Amino acid sequence: MSNVTISNAIRYIGCDDHKIDLFESQYPVPNGVSYNSYLILDEKVAVMDTADRRVSEEWFANLERELGGRTPDYLVVSHLEPDHAYNIQRLCEKYPAMQVVASAKAVQMLPQFFTMDFSPRTVTVKEGDTLSLGSHTLTFIMAPMIHWPEVMMEYESTEKVLFAADGFGKFGALDVEEDWACEARRYYFNIVGKFGPSVQTLLKKAAKLDIQTICPLHGPILQENLGYYIEKYDIWSSYRPEDEGVTLAYASIHGNTAIAAKKLAEMLEARGQKVSMFDLARDSMSEAVEDAFRYDKLVLAAPTYDASLFPCMEDFLYHLKVKNYQKRTIGIMENGSWAPAAGRLMKAYADGFKNCTVVEPLVSIRSTVKESTVKDMEAMVDALLSK
Ligand code: FEO
Repeated sequence: MSNVTISNAIRYIGCDDHKIDLFESQYPVPNGVSYNSYLILDEKVAVMDTADRRVSEEWFANLERELGGRTPDYLVVSHLEPDHAYNIQRLCEKYPAMQVVASAKAVQMLPQFFTMDFSPRTVTVKEGDTLSLGSHTLTFIMAPMIHWPEVMMEYESTEKVLFAADGFGKFGALDVEEDWACEARRYYFNIVGKFGPSVQTLLKKAAKLDIQTICPLHGPILQENLGYYIEKYDIWSSYRPEDEGVTLAYASIHGNTAIAAKKLAEMLEARGQKVSMFDLARDSMSEAVEDAFRYDKLVLAAPTYDASLFPCMEDFLYHLKVKNYQKRTIGIMENGSWAPAAGRLMKAYADGFKNCTVVEPLVSIRSTVKESTVKDMEAMVDALLSK
């Protein structure tokens, strides 16, 4: 277990996982991930969420060590996704008098995941309800669709701690030192990004609280400069670009579209633009999605394949569509050797994104870059930068 200190009464009992290959079976986590869980020791004892099946034994050992022989009175369930909820039934079996505190939706969903009858021991809470543990008091804040419907957060008013469920979470185990924003942004847009309006609602509620510590279910406990993290969440959840620059996402079969994409990147850089390039066939999809949201401009470059879009570009655009991609300026560059279709198909996706502008001209390459193509690329760069 990473050495994490919150306070004498609020103990960290979570676990790092460096062995997982893909979080949620799709996101690479080169520095692992943490499943955070907390214990509040007061006159009453509350366990704040459990942990993933992958770390069950370590998590129970952490819990028992910090309990020091005491017995939990409550398990507070913020979120039923199995990376936090897997051990609920086993914990309930171990402590038969412990009550399970959860939202109405979570109480309804519990039987979907477990075989135990929880009904005699559930305490259903709603917005604003409180639970006194002695000198600590939890206030429940409903946070539906961040990013599941049953999610709630808890505010502990004595130590001014927000238990934020998946909010303010980050990829990366706690025993790894790394920049917060990079992996928190990738986590946010890939996992929570679709639900920006729900995060905006939560931020409005949080603005009324005096928060000194944020305890998320993944990633580091945040105790300093909280305005920085809250501002990032405000930008991300309102779909505003965070930085000026261009995400250039390309796919190339034999390298000709890649040559065009690199030429375009040079042109953009010569005009002072930060360019973040992705070869969609080889680079991380989740990084490409992250940067598409980070920067204010996006260029899509892909060849035609089977009279359709080259598959990894279609996959990228599908990801953006389901994540509610919006409010960006988009340039399009297609390649086709005999019947180019990629431009029309990429434009159809882009036209479906809310409040996005697709600039003219759409650059159409016939197999390789020629002088006329370069002229069109220059015109597209002008149009991108004039928006
Ligand atoms: Fe970390 Fe949505 O579970």
